[in-house]
Amino acid sequence: MLPFQLLLLGAALSPAHAITVYGVQGVLQGAPTAGVTASATITSDTAAGTAVNDPGNYTGDAAFNPVILAAPPIPSPAPPTQFTVQLPNNAQNQPGLSIQQDGSFLGFSIEMSVVTQVIGINSTFLQVPFLNLMALVAERGGSVHIRVGGNTQETATVVPSLPDGKMIEKDKGDSTNPTQTPALLLTPELMYMMNNVSALINVKWYLGIPFNDTSNLRLQIAEYGEAILGDNILGFQLGNEPDLYVNHDHRPPGWNETNYFEEFGLVINAIGQDSNIPVKNTLIAPSVSGTWSPEDVWDTGFIPAYQNSLGALAVEHYPDDNCAAAFPDAGFGAPKDPQTVFPEYLNHNAGKDIVGAYIDSTNIAQQYGKPFLMFETNTASCGGFPGISDSFGSALWGIDYALQMAYANFTGALMHVGGVDDSYNPFTAPPTNMSQFEQWTIGPIFYANLVVAEALGTSGTSQVLDLNMNEGNIYTPGYGIWENGQLARLVLINFMTDPTGANSYTTTIQVGGVDGEANATPASVRVKMLAAESVAVKENITWAGQTLGNRFAADGRLSGDEEIQTITCDQTQNTCQVTVPAPGVAVVFLTDEAFAESEPSTTQTFATTALTKTMNTATVPASVLATSNGNSGADRDSLTSTSKGSSGAGRAAVGAPGIASLIALLAGMYVFASAVRR
Ligand SMILES: *[C@@H]1O[C@H](CO)[C@@H](O)[C@H](O)[C@H]1NC(C)=O
Ligand SMILES: *[C@@H]1O[C@H](CO)[C@@H](O)[C@H](O)[C@H]1NC(C)=O
Ligand SMILES: *[C@@H]1O[C@H](CO)[C@@H](O)[C@H](O)[C@H]1NC(C)=O
Ligand SMILES: *[C@@H]1O[C@H](CO)[C@@H](O)[C@H](O)[C@H]1NC(C)=O
Ligand SMILES: *[C@@H]1O[C@H](CO)[C@@H](O)[C@H](O)[C@H]1NC(C)=O
Ligand SMILES: *[C@@H]1O[C@H](CO)[C@@H](O)[C@H](O)[C@H]1NC(C)=O
Ligand SMILES: *[C@@H]1O[C@H](CO)[C@@H](O)[C@H](O)[C@H]1NC(C)=O
Ligand SMILES: *[C@@H]1O[C@H](CO)[C@@H](O)[C@H](O)[C@H]1NC(C)=O
Repeated sequence: MLPFQLLLLGAALSPAHAITVYGVQGVLQGAPTAGVTASATITSDTAAGTAVNDPGNYTGDAAFNPVILAAPPIPSPAPPTQFTVQLPNNAQNQPGLSIQQDGSFLGFSIEMSVVTQVIGINSTFLQVPFLNLMALVAERGGSVHIRVGGNTQETATVVPSLPDGKMIEKDKGDSTNPTQTPALLLTPELMYMMNNVSALINVKWYLGIPFNDTSNLRLQIAEYGEAILGDNILGFQLGNEPDLYVNHDHRPPGWNETNYFEEFGLVINAIGQDSNIPVKNTLIAPSVSGTWSPEDVWDTGFIPAYQNSLGALAVEHYPDDNCAAAFPDAGFGAPKDPQTVFPEYLNHNAGKDIVGAYIDSTNIAQQYGKPFLMFETNTASCGGFPGISDSFGSALWGIDYALQMAYANFTGALMHVGGVDDSYNPFTAPPTNMSQFEQWTIGPIFYANLVVAEALGTSGTSQVLDLNMNEGNIYTPGYGIWENGQLARLVLINFMTDPTGANSYTTTIQVGGVDGEANATPASVRVKMLAAESVAVKENITWAGQTLGNRFAADGRLSGDEEIQTITCDQTQNTCQVTVPAPGVAVVFLTDEAFAESEPSTTQTFATTALTKTMNTATVPASVLATSNGNSGADRDSLTSTSKGSSGAGRAAVGAPGIASLIALLAGMYVFASAVRR
C-alpha cells in the first residue's frame, strides 16, 4: 500500500478544488457535488466480460456511483467443480483450529465526523435504518462492536455545548494547513447518543481519544466515555495510525517508534492520575497501518512495558488505495483502473496476504493474553474503488478476509464506514436533500457482517479452520467452524461469475470417518446462500432469499421470504453434497443447534410511519429512552455511575419499565414493530 505522502504534497492541492483533505483513510469531505444521479439506472448486463457505464463521466457522490465493472473471466485452468472435504467431528482431532471466537467478530468502524449522518443527530434523534441494521447483526452474532473514531479523533475536543444544540462541529478556524485534519468539537451528547443505542440493541463501543499533543492532553473523551457509557464501552484507542503522524505533519521528521513508546507512557501516567477515568486498562494500541510494522513497535518493549494498561493490541490495514483518483492533483500519479484491480479482490489470496503479516503478532498477543484487533479496514483507502468496493465481490472478499482473520487468531475486525465520498461504506445515509429514511443505500459488504455473524454464532466458542479445500484452489475457498468442540458449520465461497452454471461447484462433505472417528455425517444439513447475479452487481443481493433492498431503497430491514435449503445426506456413504453457485457463499449448518442458534427467531425492527420530511427519522423522546431498558436495563441501577460494573446510564435514568412501555409511548409517533421473519 502506498503510504500517504499527502501532506507533503498537500501544497499542490489547488484551492479551486475546494477539497478539504483530512485523514486520507477516513472521510474525504468533498466540495458540494454536482448532484446525485439517484435515478441512474444500472444496466444489468453483468455477465463476464461486459462493463456498463463509464465511471469517468460520473460526477456525483462516490457512495452512489452507478458504475458496474465487468466480472473477471473464469480463470484458466478453471478450478475443479467436484471435490470432497472430509473433517473430524471432534475439534480435538483437528489440528490448526483458531482460538474461540465471538459472533461479534466482524463489527464496524465509524469515522467520528460522520456519526450524525449514520448513527443519529443526538441522544434523542437516532437514525432508524442504523438501528435496524445493527439489530440484524446483533441477533445473529449476539452483539455488535462499533468503533467511533478515525483520523478525526486526533483533534477531537469535548466542549460543554455547541451553537444550535449541535453535537459535533468541525472547527473551520483550523485551516492553516490544507491537509490538516480540522479540529473536531463534540459535546458529551455523543456518548449519551451511543448509550441510547446500546439501550435498544446490544451494541458495545470503542472510542478514540486524541494523541495529537501529549504535552496538552485532552482526556475528556475517556472521562465522559467512562461516566456515560460504563459497561457499554469496550476500550479507548489511543493514537490512530501513529506511523503516519510524520507524513501527516502531526509530528516532526525523525519522530519514530521510540518517541511513540515514550509519549504513550506519558499518557498512561496521566490516565493513572485521572480519577475521572476509573478503568485504566482498556487502552487499544498501537494501531499502526503498515508504514511501521507491528514488530517495529514490539521491538521497543511496548507490550511488556504497558501490558497493565492495554486492553487490546490493534493494527489497521487497507490492501490498496485509490488516492490518485481521489486527489488528482496531489501527485499520486495515474489513477488505478478499477477494472484491472478488481480480480485482485476475488480470490483467497486477497485476505491471506493481508493476514499473513500479522500471524506473529496474533501469537504474541496470545502469549500476553491480549485480544488482537483489525481496528479499521476496508477494500481500499482514499474512499475505495467505485465498482469494486461497492460490488457483490466486496462481500465475498469481506467474508473470506474476516474468516481468514478469525482463523489466524485475530479477535475482531472493524469494517470502516465513511461518508458519501467513499465507495466502501457498509451503509450510507441519503444525501440530505433526499433524506427519507427508507432511502439508505446498503453496501454489499454489509452482507459480510451478516454472514460472518451467523457463521460464528452466539456461543463464543467458535473455532475456525481454513479448509484449504479443492487442493487449495484460490477461487473456491472454504472454512470449517467447530463450536463447543464439535463441527457445526461450513462456509463455502465461490469467487467466480458464470451465469451458465458450469462453474458452480459441488462439495462432497464427509463428517467423521477419519482420525479414528466413526462416520458422523448428519441425515440432512441446512444451507443458506448469499447470492447475486455477478460479482460486479450492486443490487439484487440476497441472503437466504432476503434482501436489504436496492440503492436508495433501504430502511435497514430484510424483506422477502427466507429461503433455507434442506439437503438430504447419504449416511451409508457418509456424504452430503452442497452446490455453491458462481458467484455465491453457502453457509452449511451441520446440526440443529448450530442452525437454531444463529437463526434469528424475532427480528427487532424500528419502523416509522411518518410521512413528512421533518418526521423522517424516529425521534425518540429523552423521557422515553431514559426509561427504556433495551437489552441491558436489568442491571441499570444508578444515576451518575462512574465505575465499571455498575450502570452507566448517566443523567436522568429513572427505573426501567421495559420495552413494552417504550412501544406504548412511541406508538403515536412511530411504529416499533417486532416481526417474525422466517
Ligand atoms: C439533490 O440535489 C442535487 C443537486 O442540487 C439535485 O441535482 C438533485 O435533483 C436533488 N435531489 C432531490 C431528490 O431533490
Ligand atoms: C433485480 O431483479 C429484478 C427481478 O428479478 C429485476 O427486474 C431487476 O432488473 C434487477 N435489477 C438489477 C439492478 O439487476
Ligand atoms: C463519457 O464521456 C465520454 C467523453 O465525453 C463519451 O465519449 C462517453 O460516451 C461517455 N460515456 C457515457 C456512458 O456516457
Ligand atoms: C435532537 O435533535 C432534534 C432535531 O434537531 C431536536 O428536535 C432535539 O431537541 C434534539 N435533542 C437534544 C437532546 O438535543
Ligand atoms: C491538537 O489538537 C488540538 C485540537 O484540535 C489543537 O488545538 C492543537 O493545536 C493540536 N496540537 C498539535 C500539537 O497539533
Ligand atoms: C529514534 O530516534 C532516536 C533519536 O535519533 C534514536 O535514539 C532511537 O534509536 C530511534 N529509535 C528507533 C526505533 O529507530
Ligand atoms: C491460533 O491459535 C491456536 C491456539 O493457540 C494455535 O494452535 C494456532 O496455531 C494459531 N493459528 C495460527 C494461524 O497461528
Ligand atoms: C438517552 O438520552 C437522554 C438525553 O440525553 C438521556 O436523558 C437518557 O438518559 C438516555 N437514555 C439512556 C438509556 O441512556
